[in-house]
Amino acid sequence: MESLDNIAEISEIDKSDMLKIVEQFPKQCRDAVSLAETLNLDSSFFASISSIAVLGMGGSGIGGDLLKTVLTENATVPVQVVKGYKLPRFIGKDTLVFAVSYSGNTEETISAFSEAVSRGSRIIAVTSDGLLEKLAQESGANVIKIPSGFQPRAALGYLFFPILITASKLDIVPSLEGDINETLTILEKLSENLSSKRKISENTAKQLAVNLFGKIPVVYGIEGATMPAALRWKCQFNENSKVQAFWNFFPELNHNEIVGWELLKETTKKFSLVILRDRDEHPQITKRVKATRELIKDHLDSIYEVWCEGDSKLARILSILYKGDFVSIYLALLNGVDPTPVKRITLLKKRLAEK
Ligand code: PA5
Repeated sequence: MESLDNIAEISEIDKSDMLKIVEQFPKQCRDAVSLAETLNLDSSFFASISSIAVLGMGGSGIGGDLLKTVLTENATVPVQVVKGYKLPRFIGKDTLVFAVSYSGNTEETISAFSEAVSRGSRIIAVTSDGLLEKLAQESGANVIKIPSGFQPRAALGYLFFPILITASKLDIVPSLEGDINETLTILEKLSENLSSKRKISENTAKQLAVNLFGKIPVVYGIEGATMPAALRWKCQFNENSKVQAFWNFFPELNHNEIVGWELLKETTKKFSLVILRDRDEHPQITKRVKATRELIKDHLDSIYEVWCEGDSKLARILSILYKGDFVSIYLALLNGVDPTPVKRITLLKKRLAEK
């Protein structure tokens, strides 16, 4: 499309209204908070929990990455994200297991869930439908039923807040009420500032999408901070914008990937780097970002930085993640593609289901 300010053209391309769903994300998060609060579990359910595991793939699994990062400094038990068929050995009866699948039919999640059932874990399934709901009911696991009709990646509020709020009911996690309120307020502000109605001259998400148009985005996050947001940005570029994209995180990338920006300059000049920065990053990370930029800048088309907003870790991570959702949709529109369908994923799942 020619201009991201042409609302009529936006609706023509964005046939299933993905942009509107993203604009309404703060409201979805508020609904999800209320939904989570309706789950009444007695204290025996939470007694002597020694670990937390989140089982989920793709758009459903990212909630686990967010939970791990948000809780990492405060929770006194480990949080493990399982993105596959099998559970690590340590997961047992004292593990709080969240089995998260938007459709309820993701085979890896179902397989890991079934293993958790046989190990006697304390399980909460988060799903809109499908086999997971059925199996959870049959096995006596708790179910948080979330609204259907979304693409999994567009239901992140429903997929993430219930697990965050349930985990925060454990004694080992400090109260998150203030952080959640701050986060919702910041998301609401961002929703206004980055919405389709905001003209490109004053809309930083539209501006970044224009800059990334025709390039291969690479997104760098920071371990323990913006890392899950970097993964989400990459996945949203893949699924919404239909472009290849890559991600990595500081400081690990300084020990390997930085060397890869050396040869094939003609190709790497088509890459644009977006670094997701956090005001609380370790001072050595700040030094690393500066040095890395200097070392690799001539091998890329361009480098951009996007910053977290807010005080709490939750607000900081979700604010920067949310910015990426907007950028990926504006990039889809510039590419002239409907952000919603993910034909390859649907096809692949069909093939796997064939006998
Ligand atoms: O974004 C997507 O559609 C995928 O990444 C799905 O989330 C993934 O395939 C898992 O499916 P579900 O979220 O239904 O468990």
